[in-house]
Amino acid sequence: MTVKSAKVIILRKLPAAIESRMAELFDVEFSNEDRHLGKEEIASAMARADVLVSTVTDTIDAELIENAGDQLKLIANFGNGVDNIDVDAAYARNITVTNTPSVLTEDTADMVMALILALPRRMVEGDRIMREPGSFTGWSPNWMLGRRLGGKKLGIVGMGRIGQAVAKRAMAFGLEIHYHNRNHVHEEIEQELGATYWDSLDRLLGHVDFVSANCPSTPATYHLIGPRRMKLLKQGAYLINASRGQVLDEDALADALEEKRLGGAALDVFEREPAVNPRLLEFQNVILLPHMSSATIEGRLGMGEKVLINIRTFLDGHRPPDRVLPTLATEN
Ligand code: 8YV
Repeated sequence: MTVKSAKVIILRKLPAAIESRMAELFDVEFSNEDRHLGKEEIASAMARADVLVSTVTDTIDAELIENAGDQLKLIANFGNGVDNIDVDAAYARNITVTNTPSVLTEDTADMVMALILALPRRMVEGDRIMREPGSFTGWSPNWMLGRRLGGKKLGIVGMGRIGQAVAKRAMAFGLEIHYHNRNHVHEEIEQELGATYWDSLDRLLGHVDFVSANCPSTPATYHLIGPRRMKLLKQGAYLINASRGQVLDEDALADALEEKRLGGAALDVFEREPAVNPRLLEFQNVILLPHMSSATIEGRLGMGEKVLINIRTFLDGHRPPDRVLPTLATEN
């Protein structure tokens, strides 16, 4: 198979500049309608493609991989997280998986920081008030009081690239950085961020004023913050999640909000995306965003370029730069 003859099927609409470049390089099949595809539609693409370009909305499970055509050799995910793909099953069938790390780190961290600011300063609530005729009758000393950021403690759960980028920003706002991770980050990074490592997530949760989930969604992080841990959070703590919805138990979060145990929560991702747990809509101190933390034009172009490079390198017979390793390999 030559590079030009490789059949590349793209499941969602990508930035126009990326699609044009793809069309110059490969034999591409684009998505006509930009929507969530059903399992059968994905199966049909996997029966024909040499290379499949997937996104977070395309669930590629073991069954789909098992039934894929023998010609399918690469799944180039347009996205950093690969929880939508059964990577182990792919490798068992000799299908390489790539992702798009680094290019969305800063944008995602900007949004997390914006949420860390917006929650205690009640920015979204304030905007809602201004749109309600007659609701703002003028300044008064006790009007719309929030909580000061400086001097508070931020607990980052998952200190990878995004977690570290959040920490850098938070430092500048006077937050003290604490983190929980599978491993310590490099000592130099810890020093630069003035970050304290907590081996015990339980203890970290009881110590900090803000918690930002920045870990990937894996079986080990499913409902990492569930009913028991939700109760360990400090009274009035703020919870921010721009990683994956599955990391938080939304019902446990709603219980904590109902019982007024939290200062608020900001979610950019949801357990059953695109559905939102209706209980969360009831709270004024909850900010809900439609999975848009990495959504910048620059970021999407960067992701597209990574996808192009991964496909091209792979088809040229080399190891693509953003190969995602199966868990079995990483555990060894
Ligand atoms: C992307 C993300 O927009 O890359 C990720 O892991 O969560 C997002 O911010 C999305 O995955 C695109 O597929």
